[in-house]
Amino acid sequence: MSEKIDKLLRLKKERNAIILAHYYQDDIIQEIADFKGDSLALAQAAKEVTNDVIVFCGVHFMAETAKILNPDKIVLLPDLNAGCSLADSAPAESFRKWVEQYPDYVVVSYINCSTDVKAMSDIICTSSNALKIINSIPEEKKILFAPDKYLGRFLIKQTGRQMVLWDGSCQVHEQFSETKLIEIINLHPNAEVIAHPECPENILDYADFIGSTTALINHTLKSDNNEFIILTEPGVIFEMRKHSPNKTFITVPNIEGCNCNNCPYMKLNTIDKIIDCLEKLEPQIILEEQLRLKALRPLEKMLEISKK
Ligand code: 13P
Ligand code: SF4
Repeated sequence: MSEKIDKLLRLKKERNAIILAHYYQDDIIQEIADFKGDSLALAQAAKEVTNDVIVFCGVHFMAETAKILNPDKIVLLPDLNAGCSLADSAPAESFRKWVEQYPDYVVVSYINCSTDVKAMSDIICTSSNALKIINSIPEEKKILFAPDKYLGRFLIKQTGRQMVLWDGSCQVHEQFSETKLIEIINLHPNAEVIAHPECPENILDYADFIGSTTALINHTLKSDNNEFIILTEPGVIFEMRKHSPNKTFITVPNIEGCNCNNCPYMKLNTIDKIIDCLEKLEPQIILEEQLRLKALRPLEKMLEISKK
């Protein structure tokens, strides 16, 4: 493997490229990444990149977001099939018809959506800033929220705002088994249960702490507790272990009984594919300029509010 890594690093230098990676990537990719983050941190970082090439080790909507925010850069996604079940749950045409039914609503879309959906939205949010974004909308305004119904329900509960929700979900976060979770809690009564808000309500009900990927990582770092039951994609454990090598992180099986809950899309990126895309400068994210500009507006609003 070390020869491959040497080749990758040489190519990265030759191409003047930077590697941005989400915390759900395989450990080896997290090790070689120049910058790691959750969806918000990656969008913020992508906007500031000065290198010629961004290799985006995440999923398609994240690489598209990087291209929307920093269009002069070559944005590479090592595997173009790295999609997202949440983004796929909101096809552009059905979304357009839905939005048209609610003309005076503010359209808030979770960043896990296509560029077309972003272009039809008033403001974007991620799991790190969703509460802040909803609270920035005047009380008298009615809200449409897409595509994650579970994050939407969590936000309704937290803010008391009425929202009409799109019926979408993440295939990874909606599959945790409640029965297995109860068994694990009983086996580890002192462990803290920490969950991502993309999980359904029956799972979130058991959580001691709910937050975005970065918030969950930071929580394990700051908490005095030594044991954590993790209700999100297990890729996060790499960063948790790095900061807290003596703490224990316990995963929860999904409803099919597999003790993984790996995001199949995130895991499509590999070292070989990163080398390949740096060699060929393909596959690139290409966006039509008018569409990019429409999608840029709600993203910039989000970034502006996130600064406050
Ligand atoms: P965050 O990176 O905002 O925590 O979202 C998690 C996720 O599912 C990314 O696809
Ligand atoms: Fe999409 Fe879920 Fe995978 Fe995140 S974990 S990329 S929301 S399918």
